[in-house]
Amino acid sequence: MRDDLLRACRAEPVDRVPVWFMRQAGRSLPEYRELRSSHSILDVCRDAELAAEATLQPVRRLGVDAAILFSDIVVPLQGMGVQLDIVPGTGPVIEKPIRELQDVERLRDLEPEDDVPYVLDAIRILRDELEVPLIGFGGAPFTLASYLVEGGPSRSHLHTKTLMFGAPEVWAALMDRLSSSMATYLRAQVRAGAQAIQLFDSWVGHLDPQSYERYVQPWVARIFESLSDLDVPRIYFGIVTGELLVPMAATGADVMGVDWRVPLDVARARVGGLPVQGNLDPSILFAPWDVIEQQTLDVLRRGGGRGHVFNLGHGVLPETDPDVLARVVETVHSWSPGG
Ligand code: CP3
Repeated sequence: MRDDLLRACRAEPVDRVPVWFMRQAGRSLPEYRELRSSHSILDVCRDAELAAEATLQPVRRLGVDAAILFSDIVVPLQGMGVQLDIVPGTGPVIEKPIRELQDVERLRDLEPEDDVPYVLDAIRILRDELEVPLIGFGGAPFTLASYLVEGGPSRSHLHTKTLMFGAPEVWAALMDRLSSSMATYLRAQVRAGAQAIQLFDSWVGHLDPQSYERYVQPWVARIFESLSDLDVPRIYFGIVTGELLVPMAATGADVMGVDWRVPLDVARARVGGLPVQGNLDPSILFAPWDVIEQQTLDVLRRGGGRGHVFNLGHGVLPETDPDVLARVVETVHSWSPGG
């Protein structure tokens, strides 16, 4: 197996800086759009063969150093009894938003083998096929709570913050349910064969550091702590997290995902030298090639060649040209980590 990803996550020397892209599977690939022309996204997630196929598409086409399981952060919520849909162009929509303690109490603890067997089956299929490590993932409790409480995507996260600041005991009950189910879910993915895991906290950057430390950090720390006996790197990612990187690193994550707003060398200093993942602006992929190349090399230099997993600062945008992604992979691979 090509294990540069795992080596970089442990800050060991690598032959080449490993590269993968968040949302590497998805609408930027014609073969994915073809798959989606006859299946909804949740159909793909709930069918182990289709999910495995969508996972493999970018690995075949782009030459990346890791696969990320094709699924969505809301898939286990369905397993916990939440009625939801993923609406194209919008995102997850929850039928009955969670606003009160009774709503929280209706959430069942996830039992992965019974509730999401297709996720674990997809992982088992993939481990037979893949020559690069497979990354499993889950949503972090704040980001999942935001979908559950708002009922869908939100700009202000108003209902979520109202619950967090106004009913801290209900908030704690919700965080407790979500973090224990995510810990179980991630552990099941590792048992099935995932070789690294990433916790997506996409919307946590809406919080100030004090609120993060008080209302979120303990729960994320509990998830990472519960996985500490498993020998897999634990990656933690959010966007607009420049001011949160210090308390985020204190959760016990092994690798910190960084968006493009903080230069990678600055981010690494903030997280006490922890390995970092990132952080090319996904919009740069629409610039002329010489701009893309310069920016890619700048990220590589700031990453320093060791303890760096090259990625975008957030997911691949659907309009991205896959040939450009493949060229970025080549550029990363031909850069020498030794300087
Ligand atoms: O390649 C990969 O990264 C793997 C698959 C993956 C998906 N969702 C598939 C998907 C992953 C890792 C996710 C995580 C996810 N889902 C996050 C965290 C990462 C991030 O981008 O911040 C979030 C916030 C979600 C919630 C969600 N699901 C959104 C905001 C959307 C987009 C809505 C849209 O149509 O623009 C989805 C849908 C979704 N999940 C798609 C994919 C490939 C898009 C489309 C589709 O096929 O309809």
